[in-house]
Amino acid sequence: MADPVFKGSFTEQEALPQAAIDAALAVMKTGRLHRYTVGGGGPSQAALLESEFAAAIGQDYCLAVASGGYALQLAMRAWGVSGDEPVLTNAFTLSPVPGAIAAVGGTPVLVETTPDLTIDLDDLKDKIAASGARLLLLSHMRGHITDMDALCALLDRTGVALIEDCAHTMGAAWDGRPSGTFGVAGCFSTQTYKHINSGEGGLIASNDAKLMARATVLSGSYMLYGRHEAAPAPDAFGDAPFECPNMSGRMDNLRAAILRPQLATLADNAARWNVRYDTVSEALRDVPGLRLTERDPRETFVGSSIQFFLDDLTADECEAFVAACRARGVEIKWFGASKASGYTSTHHHWTYLPPQNLPRTDAILATLFDMRLPLTFSREDCALIASIIADCAAQFAAPFLPRAGVA
Ligand SMILES: Cc1ncc(COP(=O)(O)O)c(C=O)c1O
Repeated sequence: MADPVFKGSFTEQEALPQAAIDAALAVMKTGRLHRYTVGGGGPSQAALLESEFAAAIGQDYCLAVASGGYALQLAMRAWGVSGDEPVLTNAFTLSPVPGAIAAVGGTPVLVETTPDLTIDLDDLKDKIAASGARLLLLSHMRGHITDMDALCALLDRTGVALIEDCAHTMGAAWDGRPSGTFGVAGCFSTQTYKHINSGEGGLIASNDAKLMARATVLSGSYMLYGRHEAAPAPDAFGDAPFECPNMSGRMDNLRAAILRPQLATLADNAARWNVRYDTVSEALRDVPGLRLTERDPRETFVGSSIQFFLDDLTADECEAFVAACRARGVEIKWFGASKASGYTSTHHHWTYLPPQNLPRTDAILATLFDMRLPLTFSREDCALIASIIADCAAQFAAPFLPRAGVA
């Protein structure tokens, strides 16, 4: 019998819920798509989204903007990153993160990665001392959350501020506390492949009134910041409207309208993602030579993607493994490729950066694989996908060699 092939699409998202479609139609019927065009005077859809998101994660303020990458830039600029200063961030992340640092004129200083794909706190400590950086832009890449207690203690001791990149952790938490609430600001993405979908979009949440007043003005609020519901009160804006340039990057009412109903179903969807994640991870756990990351019990994650290692494979074998999976309909990304491919790239491909010496990250990325788990997959799909991965991994397994993680 021929080997089974998976026929689904790894980029197919679910349709938006009917409530989102209805909300979009309602906005379109008014023509009031710009966030400050409020007709009858009530709060705009963008303002309502901001209030609802702030309430959902227990923060005082929220600002909706054009993209997750823009949210990162804006939060850093509003906090006060100045040209040419070093900004620490994870080496294991995606290109919009160092890109956001570059956009505000900062110099990314990349920090090593642990085998569980979180930031290496020992290397962070060394690089805080060596770089003199004042800020860490922490990327919870692929939803892997570091020990936030240990991280925050280190940052407190060294006087380094924290902005969280929560593009992959909307709906996630550390020890019960929502991701994005640990630093001066948390930045989220609502781009199609994230946990709520408006095509493009971003959110900044914070308890810092000064930062959020500045961010609101920078985002292009003109003198209309009084129309925000989840911004600091107008008298907290002080000189921000005059000091901060307008760097237009607002969210519009159409996108906000389709996001609001999705916010209401985020927790349910997180549980649905985790069913898919658990199905794949349980099936892969005992595959010889394949290693999954360990997750701290304090971490509540949203399993919208899965990562695994084939520690013993050479680069050629990794490439052949990806090709073997692809031939059977399973789309796997590999972080060890010498060329950037699709959304996947590493610090070696970001040649605008000063060269980084990251031997531990390089060793980790060399055999790291990554796969999306869209909600359009059923449990049966996930079981089939896992069995295809296991079959393909077996082609490269060397049964007589000792393997990492296998007793
Ligand atoms: C880790 C990470 N951070 C930030 C972003 C930026 O989000 P956006 O695409 O909304 O600009 C992305 C997007 O893919 C991402 O993967």
